[in-house]
Amino acid sequence: MTWIIVGGSSGLGRALAERFAAAGCELVLLSRDVRDTTPLASHLAIKYAVKVSPVAIDLNCNPLPFAAIDSILEGHLPLKGLLIPAGVNDDSDVVGMGDTTLEYLTRVNYLAPCQLLNHYLPLLEQNSGVIVGFGSVATARGRSRNAAYAAAKSALESYFESLAHHAANSGISCQYYVLGYLDTNLAFAQDLLFPLASVDRIADVVYRRRFSSGRRFLPRPWYILYRAVQFLPWVIFKRLSF
Ligand SMILES: NC(=O)c1ccc[n+]([C@@H]2O[C@H](COP(=O)([O-])OP(=O)(O)OC[C@H]3O[C@@H](n4cnc5c(N)ncnc54)[C@H](OP(=O)(O)O)[C@@H]3O)[C@@H](O)[C@H]2O)c1
Repeated sequence: MTWIIVGGSSGLGRALAERFAAAGCELVLLSRDVRDTTPLASHLAIKYAVKVSPVAIDLNCNPLPFAAIDSILEGHLPLKGLLIPAGVNDDSDVVGMGDTTLEYLTRVNYLAPCQLLNHYLPLLEQNSGVIVGFGSVATARGRSRNAAYAAAKSALESYFESLAHHAANSGISCQYYVLGYLDTNLAFAQDLLFPLASVDRIADVVYRRRFSSGRRFLPRPWYILYRAVQFLPWVIFKRLSF
């Protein structure tokens, strides 16, 4: 069976590609260009003897070029899963940012993942498939920094909850992972208070739990921190800078 990995060129998406290919899954790897995914696809195809196809797609474009992905899928085994680890943040993502940044962060982190999910939902329902989304502990509470990123990921989480409600009667599995800090580009050069989690370990959990449903925090201790931030009195929270 075939799995689409949206954002399969680096970080968690790359680790998921390695994990699913190792298990014998065919893959379609989406990212803005194919300079990273083409050598990755060749590497995985040789190492695990599976078919892996790179596709260039910019999630910031509207409408999304579904025809390009669909024509690649025609040469693959039936679609079993859609994994959406793609995400982006931006240094200029502070309250009062310009429209271009706001629209870009909203489109890549929320609208495009939902449009992909909507497009492939009927096919995945036919194939008793799997849809997996990825959020962030940044959604615990709105801050002046990462404002649009956190808002988009909160919206994505809500959409995935709606999907889970729908999926309960439709035969698909649907998971949403709220992630703490990862050892990837997205966290690079950021002043972070906590250790970074290995993407290989996260990818392994996602693979092992692929046929379950629900929302989970990874690594799990982040749930405690997430809730603690939510319960902080406003007089303390408003003084924090993180
Ligand atoms: N890193 C962290 O500490 C952290 C913490 C909490 C949550 N998360 C979430 O975890 C997920 C994985 O993060 P990560 O650290 O693995 O990210 P990453 O290493 O920066 O990788 C992001 C992926 O998204 C793709 N992407 C970004 N913008 C795109 C666009 N416009 N069109 C198509 N593809 C695009 C990138 O591909 P190209 O750049 O090649 O196009 C890349 O494959 C994200 O959803 C992120 O929000 C990360």
